[in-house]
Amino acid sequence: MAGTFITFEGIDGSGKSTQLRLLTNFLSSQGCEVLVTREPGGTSVGLRLRAALLDAQEQVDPLAELLVFAADRAQHVRRVLRPALAAGQIVLSDRYADATRAYQGAGRGFSAKLISEIIQLATEGLTPDLTLLFDLPIIESAVRTRRRLEAKPQGDRLDLEDAEFHNRVREAYLGMAEREPDRFRIITTNGPVEETHERVKEIVVPFLEARGQIVSRKPAAVGSRQTQPL
Ligand code: TYD
Repeated sequence: MAGTFITFEGIDGSGKSTQLRLLTNFLSSQGCEVLVTREPGGTSVGLRLRAALLDAQEQVDPLAELLVFAADRAQHVRRVLRPALAAGQIVLSDRYADATRAYQGAGRGFSAKLISEIIQLATEGLTPDLTLLFDLPIIESAVRTRRRLEAKPQGDRLDLEDAEFHNRVREAYLGMAEREPDRFRIITTNGPVEETHERVKEIVVPFLEARGQIVSRKPAAVGSRQTQPL
């Protein structure tokens, strides 16, 4: 059986990693076996590439940056994603190829043609079944990113880009979601974390049920109704 490949995307500070963790916990509590991974850094080679890519002390040339993200992805696709999906697993990835479209395409300004050729080369056509796009206005994501930078002052190299850059990235993501409505779901993350988690479940659970990856929901709601006085 082919598995299901779900990616989490969004600007820095959009809350996607928190939601990925909450969804993983929820799916595990339902008895699903979930493979959680990420880009960059979903393999041991990838972890080294990630450290080099995100080091704020490094001056990484934009073309080198594009190619290293692609190298990380090729290793990830061939060594982790394809085998897991072939084994029928649910795979949740914190970022994938859409991040290259957004950050290196819109952010750095590489042409759409070059970006899609490089993505095709690295992924060999592997496309997510579902992409959750976590979105919020740049001003709010900047506040979250600033808080994160206070905790870790050296920061990630890409976190340090200006608001213009992050705005181009955000617009690019929203454009992709508009062009591929079947694959993308936009989730606005300016409310409480729990509310966003509910929204994620509302999207993902029926999606997995339709693909036969979750048999049925736990009857928690029915159980609690039965205990109420008549
Ligand atoms: P991420 O792991 O989401 O960072 P964090 O967990 O610290 O929020 O992503 C790391 C950075 O890499 C992020 O700024 C986006 C960037 N990135 C690209 O520029 N291109 C890519 O193809 C990928 C996968 C990530």
